[in-house]
Amino acid sequence: MISIFLGPPGSGKGTQAKRLSNLKGWPQLSTGDMLRGNIQAGTKLGLEAKSLMDQGLLVSDSVVIGMIDERINASDCSNGFILDGFPRTIIQADALNELLELKNLKLNRVFEFSIPDEVLISRLTGRRTCLKCSSMFHIVSAPPKIFNICDKCGSELVQRQDDSEEVISKRLKVYHQQTSALVQYYSDKNLIKKIDATLSVEVVEKNILALI
Ligand code: AP5
Repeated sequence: MISIFLGPPGSGKGTQAKRLSNLKGWPQLSTGDMLRGNIQAGTKLGLEAKSLMDQGLLVSDSVVIGMIDERINASDCSNGFILDGFPRTIIQADALNELLELKNLKLNRVFEFSIPDEVLISRLTGRRTCLKCSSMFHIVSAPPKIFNICDKCGSELVQRQDDSEEVISKRLKVYHQQTSALVQYYSDKNLIKKIDATLSVEVVEKNILALI
């Protein structure tokens, strides 16, 4: 199955994509994680992306389309995959249609994570991530067992550069200006499944599974 997790920053796309990936074996293709991987590795692409990401702006369409094009050719994607944070513009959505068509693949579902902006600020300012294994925590709703240490691999947890209140506001603005139009785009194709993302992690997961 090929699905898209579409929603504003902090709506829980990454959390749910990881859980679904663990349950079903479909890899999570997160353009945000791929870009952060490039930043960590100090690649040219990472250097260019960093200043845009730190400002809460989108990286160019051609860069992320190229990354997805390459990634979906990998053998672990042959039974399906979960697109987390891609597409984010109409240009990216059109490019995805073309890529899938070329490979004779079909997009099955687009899960729209619906949640008011007010809830997202506290979710994002409290988020802590493991740089080593990408596990995610929240200082209030999902704290690690030991302060600032990853439960899974024991590495130190960090706060993402773009999780300051100022950059979060910018990211939300960018979402409403450039990405939310995709809800209508995929509604017109009859692919949208709306998810109430204000509910607990477990209930959101149950609701997604019921729609698969
Ligand atoms: P990206 O990494 O994709 O970030 P994002 O879309 O802004 O989304 P987040 O990862 O911040 O949030 P999420 O919805 O995954 O929530 P999460 O599960 O972590 O993109 C970062 C940047 O990269 C962009 O700004 C852009 O510059 C660039 N980029 C990436 N893709 C691009 C593209 N396609 N085109 C151009 N540029 C691109 O949860 C958040 C917190 O809430 C966590 O602490 C979690 O524990 C908690 N939480 C989750 N679910 C719940 C729940 N149900 N109840 C309570 N707490 C919860």
